[in-house]
Amino acid sequence: MHHLDTLDQTRLRQRHGQKWSVYPPDVLPAWVADMDFEIAAPIRAALAAQVERSDFGYPYHQQRTGLPALFAARVAERFGWTIDAEQVVILSDVVQGLYLALETLSERGDGVIIQTPIYPPFLHAAEETGRRAVLCPLVAGASRYEIDFDQLAANIDAGTRVLMLCSPHNPSGRAFDRAELTRLAELACRHDLVVVSDEIHAELKLNGEPHLPIAAIDAEVAARTVTLMSASKAFNIAGLCMAFAHFGSPALKARFERVPPHVRGGTNTLAVSAVHAAWTAGQPWLDEVIAYLRGNRDHVAEFVGRHWPRVRHFAPEATYLAWLDMRDLGLPGSPQQFFLEHAKVALSEGRAFGEDGTGFVRLNFATSRPILDEILQRMREALAIL
Ligand SMILES: Cc1ncc(COP(=O)(O)O)c(C=O)c1O
Repeated sequence: MHHLDTLDQTRLRQRHGQKWSVYPPDVLPAWVADMDFEIAAPIRAALAAQVERSDFGYPYHQQRTGLPALFAARVAERFGWTIDAEQVVILSDVVQGLYLALETLSERGDGVIIQTPIYPPFLHAAEETGRRAVLCPLVAGASRYEIDFDQLAANIDAGTRVLMLCSPHNPSGRAFDRAELTRLAELACRHDLVVVSDEIHAELKLNGEPHLPIAAIDAEVAARTVTLMSASKAFNIAGLCMAFAHFGSPALKARFERVPPHVRGGTNTLAVSAVHAAWTAGQPWLDEVIAYLRGNRDHVAEFVGRHWPRVRHFAPEATYLAWLDMRDLGLPGSPQQFFLEHAKVALSEGRAFGEDGTGFVRLNFATSRPILDEILQRMREALAIL
């Protein structure tokens, strides 16, 4: 038995995060993108030591935390991406970065390319900042979702100013390859687009190859790109609220920084300790978690293939999220509602990821194998009564 197989549901339900507390106790949650695993021991130790010191005074200036330099070292080591730490800004979270980038690097009414189905805050950010979403759906290919480049190019008009990229892509689980990213980069340069690239899942690639940031494709695309990353997704500390924005040119950074630091929010000193521990001593934990997630990913794909031949699913190349096309099952109404009611399993509602997500659900498989099996069995039994 793997030690990650043992998770205590009573303990999980005591957590303050949304995942285990929004639904009643008879519901198993497989929705919001947190993992159920315990955090890495070095992070726990760093946080405990800080609590012990009553170490909650005003934080240092961002650069003096050492984290921008550590971020630069991390992306060089993990992705072979060489950047200048001076071009890095610490944020509260990646979604804040999406909103601020749209606010500061485009104008109201500008067109923003969004590849649906998409992590819902992309759609909210465009709408709430008064931008115009230019929806470019991914299309189901033989074994993965694909970018329809012809349609993408055709959708770009004179008012399109931004390419909002999600790479790796949530919820499809695609990790776009060099050829795809190169074509996207060419498109952005040709049409003079700013690229806002949410790469929060970069460290959750499941197939062994390193992540490729779009800003690493070439200097021309880098100069127009804001890359958003964090330690929070891979190290499971989203509640500590810290993310990183890298600007490929000083001009982009200067425009972004017109929003004063006090409006962007202060730096959480617990997050400083946790992120430092994650990036200096957390890799053995992450390697183990990724290997375990890969097993869960394959298990879900195998289960779906064996028991639900009419459900379309491509095993994700990255993330711990399975995007399931339930449209051929003939379920009454939304599959999310169906499984919540009949299986007591809380999945993410596909429709929230854009209209082309209607009839889909997203299943979070970052849990122990026994809990994952219970989720899948409950869903199977619910479908059996149809
Ligand atoms: C693509 C993507 N971006 C951003 C986030 C949220 O990041 P943060 O908590 O840093 O805003 C998530 C969380 O699931 C995500 O999947």
